[in-house]
Amino acid sequence: MVVPPLIERKRDGGSLRDDEWRGIIDAYANGSLPDYQMAALAMAVYFRGLDPDELSALTDSMLASGDRMDFSDENRPVIDKHSTGGVGDKTSLLLAPMLAACGAVVPMMSGRGLGHTGGTLDKLEAIPGFRTDLKLDRAVRQAREIGLVMLGQTAEIAPADRKLYALRDVTATVESIPLIAASIMSKKLAEGLDGLVLDVKHGSGAFLPESARALELARTMIGLGRTRGCPVVALVTAMDRPLGIACGNALEMREAIAGLSGDGPPDLMEVTMALGIEMLRLSGLAVNDGTARSMLERAIRSGDALERLAMMVAAQGGNADVATRPDMLPSADTIIDVNAVDGGTVTAVAPRPLGRVIVELGGGRRTVDDMVRPEVGLEVLVKPGQMVAAGDLIARVHARSAIDAERARSEVGAAITIGDDAPVVLPLIGWRVTHEHTTPWEG
Ligand code: URA
Repeated sequence: MVVPPLIERKRDGGSLRDDEWRGIIDAYANGSLPDYQMAALAMAVYFRGLDPDELSALTDSMLASGDRMDFSDENRPVIDKHSTGGVGDKTSLLLAPMLAACGAVVPMMSGRGLGHTGGTLDKLEAIPGFRTDLKLDRAVRQAREIGLVMLGQTAEIAPADRKLYALRDVTATVESIPLIAASIMSKKLAEGLDGLVLDVKHGSGAFLPESARALELARTMIGLGRTRGCPVVALVTAMDRPLGIACGNALEMREAIAGLSGDGPPDLMEVTMALGIEMLRLSGLAVNDGTARSMLERAIRSGDALERLAMMVAAQGGNADVATRPDMLPSADTIIDVNAVDGGTVTAVAPRPLGRVIVELGGGRRTVDDMVRPEVGLEVLVKPGQMVAAGDLIARVHARSAIDAERARSEVGAAITIGDDAPVVLPLIGWRVTHEHTTPWEG
């Protein structure tokens, strides 16, 4: 395959045919197309976009580059959710066990931290012994047996995306609507789902901060799912401040356990419930929002959701007792307070710099080979609009050393601004997007 003319055509605004995309993706997956040509093509797509036929061809080629989970003889609904990524966003850790407790099968394939955002796999791996590198047949078996499995993208599923994603991460080509849509949907379609709920983030801490672009991404993914027999609903939610209080792997795992025990922070629980309701409606397990909400509340109140988490932890190599004893999770040697220097209104709690602080503390990766420290992170104790007095506690830093903690303290102080003006904040949930409608969220 002669690739330079194809890159050239894309660079100059032309389109590639189905067979050309298939050839490119096959060649990239089998190693015969080098990274430098793929990087050039990704940059051309970044600037030129893809027309609908090209987007379909790219998604299908990535999907076809690997295997799929097979739930064809499963009589319970198979359902999943996916977030486009944020800081403190731990809803997956709650939703998979909650939905399993409500009678769905959740085969959730998740990602690692990317840039300033956290990753579900890194959070789960804060549980000592927990394995996310499962083989596909084992994952399917576990999902059938206990209703849920949470695993990393294996070499078997959409391997072309696995390579391309890592390449995009280091070539400034992540923030492209068609590339994100094809990447997410090729993996999710490989899960053999009956339905998918998307949490598309907007706001300064999202990969696509502008609402219009987030909505376009949501509609693009909904369209891809629909034409491939997988109904998709999206909620567009705020990432102009962290979600919940805990940011960092073990801290977030702890907060998820608190949420499953009925004691989660209100904003986290509101987004979790809204996504859970969509999942139950889409799966057909609930006929209306009220029933769905009651089912989710019962799953928490009865302890069934927490029990599902414990079963999954045990099945994937961890100690199930962590579900009732979160103190078993690693904790940091140094924990220091961050106090407000001035009194006033919290005008911003900027997720992007806070996410970067966590990476600096060791809670994320600067290179693909970095080891992630589970115990480090932040507790962000204020929200935009809140009044504080000088000296009030606004955050806590969990660090490996006093030097790291002090450095983080000043960066956290700079990311949380206090002033006189009322802040402009996004509504926690902005829109509900389906194939037919985009509706402002009314709660
Ligand atoms: N998540 C993915 O899986 N792919 C992207 O491109 C961005 C976020």
